[in-house]
Amino acid sequence: MSTGLAVHGAFSLKAFNTFGLECTAERFVEAFSVEDVQTFVRDPFLNSSLSLLLGGGSNVLLTATHLPGTVLHVAIKHREVLQETLDYVDVRIGAGEPWHDFVLWTLENGWGGAENLSLIPGQVGTAPVQNIGAYGVELNDICTGVHFVERESGTVGYYTREQCAFGYRDSVFKKELKDKCVLVSVDFRFTKRNHLLKTHYGTVEDQLTAAGQLPSPKTISDAVIAIRQSKLPDPAKLGNSGSFFKNPYISKEQFSFLQSIDANAPGYLQPAGEIKAAAGWLIEKAGWKGFRRGDAGVHALQALVLVNYGQATGPEIWELAQDIIADVQEKFKIGLEPEVNLVG
Ligand code: EPU
Repeated sequence: MSTGLAVHGAFSLKAFNTFGLECTAERFVEAFSVEDVQTFVRDPFLNSSLSLLLGGGSNVLLTATHLPGTVLHVAIKHREVLQETLDYVDVRIGAGEPWHDFVLWTLENGWGGAENLSLIPGQVGTAPVQNIGAYGVELNDICTGVHFVERESGTVGYYTREQCAFGYRDSVFKKELKDKCVLVSVDFRFTKRNHLLKTHYGTVEDQLTAAGQLPSPKTISDAVIAIRQSKLPDPAKLGNSGSFFKNPYISKEQFSFLQSIDANAPGYLQPAGEIKAAAGWLIEKAGWKGFRRGDAGVHALQALVLVNYGQATGPEIWELAQDIIADVQEKFKIGLEPEVNLVG
């Protein structure tokens, strides 16, 4: 191996996944710059042994306690203003920047666009992969493009927002480019005035009213933080990976069936005619909310979130998830899919 990168053997990933699961990686390498990533992919041994690209570890379930091969942790820190006018600012952010710190920085600057995406765990570089979204805004509303290192050639490539093919928790990086590139930076455009504020989703509006505040990027961020803190467990205190499942798209007939069970079943009509059902509601209705088996559990305040009370293993969390999937399938004839990436 001819590389200047530090290669660690038998490395514990416990501090590198927000579920707090114990898993020993055969090899672990950290990249602090684009050049580090290029050095990594140009090393035939490291590149071919890559088994996990790790950002903040906030959207991954390590399903085994040992991970063969090499884990690459991208830790590129970079914040750059590319250009600005009176109306907007364009920025480029390193893949290793913690997402929420970045959002707070945009708010300190008075910029609008990222406020609804406050307090999401993880790093900037993994946000485009699953097109993170919350409270009526998705990353694709503010992202203008993505730089990545191609694993085959080691060259830097760029995809515009359109080329990223963003969808609901989906992008080209989960499809055609899956396993083919390493994201190194993300470009965004934020508003400096005439902000496009979104308060219609869920209880954001109520939260603002209760706090006696008019909508602004900062007050919306405060409201979103308050809502998230009231429902979603803090990974630093209780291991979890946010929403474990995706909200399923179902047919009108399937939705009528849910309404026959409960007239208040939540469902959101999509442009193409199908309905986005609420996985959390289905899991709660099936009786799993607050369920605990050993140290693996379903969060008591938000059934979409699986939690590790301390000593749960990856296989135990995955077994619980599969039991939930089977039960929801049997009771509602709806197939839930994990939103987290399964590794191992
Ligand atoms: N619901 C229940 N029981 C539950 C959870 C939810 O009945 O235990 C119902 C709610 O009452 C509501 C509906 O399900 O009618 C939807 O719930 P909520 O608005 O809380 O959002 P969600 O669908 O559970 C999604 C995202 C979250 C995001 C929130 C807010 C997905 C998979 N999850 O959750 O994203 O924060 O909306 O926008 O799309 C994440 O991806 O990690 C994540 C936390």
